[in-house]
Amino acid sequence: MKKLAIAITLALTTAAASVAVVAAVKDEPIKPIRPAQELNLAQVELGKKLYFDPRLSKSGFISCNSCHNLSMGGTDNIPTSIGHGWQQGPINAPTVLNSSLNLAQFWDGRAADLKEQAGGPIANPGEMASNHTLAIEVLQSIPDYVREFELVFGSDKITIDEVTQAIAEFEKTLVTPNSPFDLWLMGDEDALTDKEKAGYKLFKDSGCVACHNGAAVGGNSYQKMGSVEPYQTDNPAEGRVAVTKKDADRFMFKVPTLRNVELTYPYFHDGAAQTLGEAVEIMGRIQLGKKFTEEENAQIVSFLKSLTGDQPSFQMPILPPSNENTPKPEPFDS
Ligand code: HEC
Ligand code: HEC
Repeated sequence: MKKLAIAITLALTTAAASVAVVAAVKDEPIKPIRPAQELNLAQVELGKKLYFDPRLSKSGFISCNSCHNLSMGGTDNIPTSIGHGWQQGPINAPTVLNSSLNLAQFWDGRAADLKEQAGGPIANPGEMASNHTLAIEVLQSIPDYVREFELVFGSDKITIDEVTQAIAEFEKTLVTPNSPFDLWLMGDEDALTDKEKAGYKLFKDSGCVACHNGAAVGGNSYQKMGSVEPYQTDNPAEGRVAVTKKDADRFMFKVPTLRNVELTYPYFHDGAAQTLGEAVEIMGRIQLGKKFTEEENAQIVSFLKSLTGDQPSFQMPILPPSNENTPKPEPFDS
């Protein structure tokens, strides 16, 4: 009875607190990032191991974290990724941070959600170059993994479905609340400098928010790269048309999130813009037909940097060792 009373009091206090928070949030086209909700913590822990496990790749060397490095904003900070056998990737690696907020995954939205996405890189010959049968064989050979999968999913037969489910659940934790901008949204006037506030005003008044809005400041629509002036690039990617086969979708790309954009250089699907200043100049010109002064550009850049939130923080997972039954890694072509 006492326990129940405490639980009710707690629930009421939490409800009251969240009402207060909701009431204080400014009415703006950008919304604060919320901490991850309704997580299956056992799946998260397993998914974290899998995210860091390079044995899901043919070489035994490339993990999700190789290209989506959680110490570097969830990306690799190079124009296009390096895959199996040092292959040059075709496109820039987007950040995994806040990717749970995307309307779909990949630049062209070809995967519906994180679970569907996670199966891709393991079997992509240009990325991890394994296949789902081999990846399962590796995991199934390691008793600690078998035990953990059984604990989490209730069966000692590991499936790729469980692998991608666990990775996706872990990725849901990779949200970045509490950026200075969000603290300002939630009522802390001092969380932003005047320069950052001026940058946000320009960002709104110039029309950037038409495409970059919502909690992720992007990620919720496909838009043409080059609305008012064509984008010059050697990269052959044509965006959404690859999925829909509709000509109108040529050069339509998923609008990237601008959360943590200070950390996720270089920019655009071809990784051609090295700095935020360059990216802002190009966006103004080709999406809006606007030329910003040096001062305006610097203000927008400082606003964008205020979107950096709390980075994921957790204990490094320790991976169970391979044994004599584990298929051997093949880092080099024989
Ligand atoms: C060799 C580098 C590489 C590896 C390894 C890799 N990725 Fe990626 N990832 C990329 C690239 C490049 C893209 C963009 C591809 C595209 O859009 O066509 C991407 C896209 C994504 C996206 C979509 C994000 C968005 O905003 O659309 C997610 C999520 C993701 N990867 C998660 C993972 C997970 C989980 C793993 C491990 C199972 C993984 N990646 C392994 C390079 C890599
Ligand atoms: C018409 C929609 C639209 C408007 C307006 C727009 N953007 Fe974008 N933005 C996009 C799309 C689409 C991309 C990704 C394009 C690509 O790489 O092919 C993008 C990419 C970016 C990037 C690079 C992010 C990354 O991770 O690669 C930045 C920074 C950016 N926009 C800032 C701005 C700013 C600042 C403005 C206003 C001056 C603006 N955008 C206006 C649609 C838009």
